[in-house]
Amino acid sequence: MIKLTREEAAGRVMVALDYPDAAAAETLLRSLEGIPCYMKVGMQLFYAAGPGFVASLKERGYRVFLDLKMHDIPNTVKGGANSVTKLGVDIFNVHAAGGIRMMEAALEGVEAALAGSIGLQRPTVIAVTQLTSTSRSVLNDEIGIAGAVEDTVLRYAQLARLAGLGGVVASPHEVQSIKAACGIAFKTVTPGIRPSGADANDQSRIMTPREALERGTDYMVIGRPITAASDPREAIESIIKELL
Ligand code: C5P
Repeated sequence: MIKLTREEAAGRVMVALDYPDAAAAETLLRSLEGIPCYMKVGMQLFYAAGPGFVASLKERGYRVFLDLKMHDIPNTVKGGANSVTKLGVDIFNVHAAGGIRMMEAALEGVEAALAGSIGLQRPTVIAVTQLTSTSRSVLNDEIGIAGAVEDTVLRYAQLARLAGLGGVVASPHEVQSIKAACGIAFKTVTPGIRPSGADANDQSRIMTPREALERGTDYMVIGRPITAASDPREAIESIIKELL
């Protein structure tokens, strides 16, 4: 059984700040004050609250995963990666479906930002493989990719690895095959985590934090089990306890 310190366990949890604006996120941030977890900022909050909000998270000492899922021509992704690196985020992501050249361009954007300013940290760039909302019929009949969703996930993970990225977002059920194909150091960030007894909401194929940890998950994205809890602090503390 994997044993983590409290600090390590908290650092494996990424709280999904799925809020419409900074004021709405603030209440949760106050209730979690002092817990050394990651904060995940997605497009809803970023488009409303902007770079200033990310900067305020960094000033409070949080590690930040900026979940903007970039997908554009390589030159544009390079520019986007350059900008988010300058924000000082710890992790950000791009779509593997953009191809190897686009993922390499993201890394070039990171390097250009690092070369241009002193004291910036190097963010880990990860890839979105196949969105978990994509069913096999959507994949085959709409998007036009043959085969099982799991095969595409693995293929995209390998592309991300080839491009030099540091990991992928994936289901906790896919962690073991991804690690087998891409190496143990290749990071996996997994949503779809539910503490035992928690509401699954709209997630399917869920896994508990402890199971996910044992399968090799590096970071667990957890939203509503914390953000919608009557006592969010107690909710995250009990998740952390499950990982000790
Ligand atoms: O509330 P919940 O724990 O379901 O939140 C999960 C978070 O992970 C949300 O921010 C969601 O957008 C994100 N996510 C996901 N499935 C993916 C990719 C991201 O649930 N495949």
